[in-house]
Amino acid sequence: MKILGIETSCDETAAAVVEDGRNVLSNAIYSQIAKHRPYGGVVPEIASRNHVAKLPSIIDEALDSAGETYDSIDAIAVTYGPGLASSLLIGFCAAKALAQRLNKPLIGVNHHEGHLHSVFMKDGAPSEDEVFPMLGLMVSGGDSSLVLMKGIGQYELLGSTIDDAAGEALDKGASVLKLGYPGGPIIQQIAEGGNPKAIRFPRGLESVDRGKWIYKYDRDLCFSFSGLKTSLLTYVKKLDHEPKGQELSDIAASYQEAVTDALTKRTERALKRFEIKSFCCAGGVSLNKVLREKLTALSEKTGIPLLLCPPSLCTDNAAMIAGAAYEKIRLNKAVDEPNDVNPNLRLADWA
Ligand code: KG4
Repeated sequence: MKILGIETSCDETAAAVVEDGRNVLSNAIYSQIAKHRPYGGVVPEIASRNHVAKLPSIIDEALDSAGETYDSIDAIAVTYGPGLASSLLIGFCAAKALAQRLNKPLIGVNHHEGHLHSVFMKDGAPSEDEVFPMLGLMVSGGDSSLVLMKGIGQYELLGSTIDDAAGEALDKGASVLKLGYPGGPIIQQIAEGGNPKAIRFPRGLESVDRGKWIYKYDRDLCFSFSGLKTSLLTYVKKLDHEPKGQELSDIAASYQEAVTDALTKRTERALKRFEIKSFCCAGGVSLNKVLREKLTALSEKTGIPLLLCPPSLCTDNAAMIAGAAYEKIRLNKAVDEPNDVNPNLRLADWA
């Protein structure tokens, strides 16, 4: 079965054709990073206008490079949340119109579900039956969470960030250091050769004073990155000069160390607490070299296999959306079409 996936939840305009959930026949992406860079972050109005301008040609590109046509695909999958409402609407309306015109099923996919599915979309990935229950560390630009996956489409959210996401912390940290946007890859680059132990930035929720906890999830499995960003800001303000060279590398390496340490520590706690057969990491921040090394070391220490998504599918793409949609069809959970986008969509069990 060949599915055309469409993804416009934030600032990537993407379309892809995937066969039987895993075989990526094409993966066309127009990244709008250059358009948003002057503003230091994504501007929703600019994002949606660029989706309007680029989506038709990106869909054509995905079909052409897969050697497919509108007639030869079997279904259309689209991200309907979470994300920016005005961006989601562009992909959603296009997908809905195509599905109606072509008389093909439309499958709505949760963006985070797509990220988690992407760990299966590479050669040699184990079959789903071998890996559940699986712990998922989801680290995209807008979200950081730990998810217990009991099977395909069966999710229990164990913990989440109570403020900024890890990606957001890296983006904001890079902005404080005047390094540009997006921050994750630039911080990784500047941190090369830096000393990660030079400065001890906070890991979030470290205080032993447990105080009042108002959130639904276990405090020990939640993340907090806003204090880290403030700590960097305070550190830089106290310097009487703009950090450069080795000093800048040390700051970037220490900051990256705090983010990746916080993510790895919570993952380790969850692995100890639950019966887990494997764990995975997905989303843009999972590209980070230091995070990959720490999680690989954790896998070696615990003997629990780790699945990482292929680098080409870590940041936003439509192949992961088509891949996840295939599972819904395969398990017969597909075909009630969403009627609208949902910017705050949560991971939920497939009914
Ligand atoms: O998954 P993604 O494309 O966006 C959402 O679905 O929200 O992730 C984008 C995030 C950005 O915050 C970016 O800074 C981060 O992924 N990122 C990285 C790296 N490459 C991208 N963070 C750390 N290290 C990287 N190499």
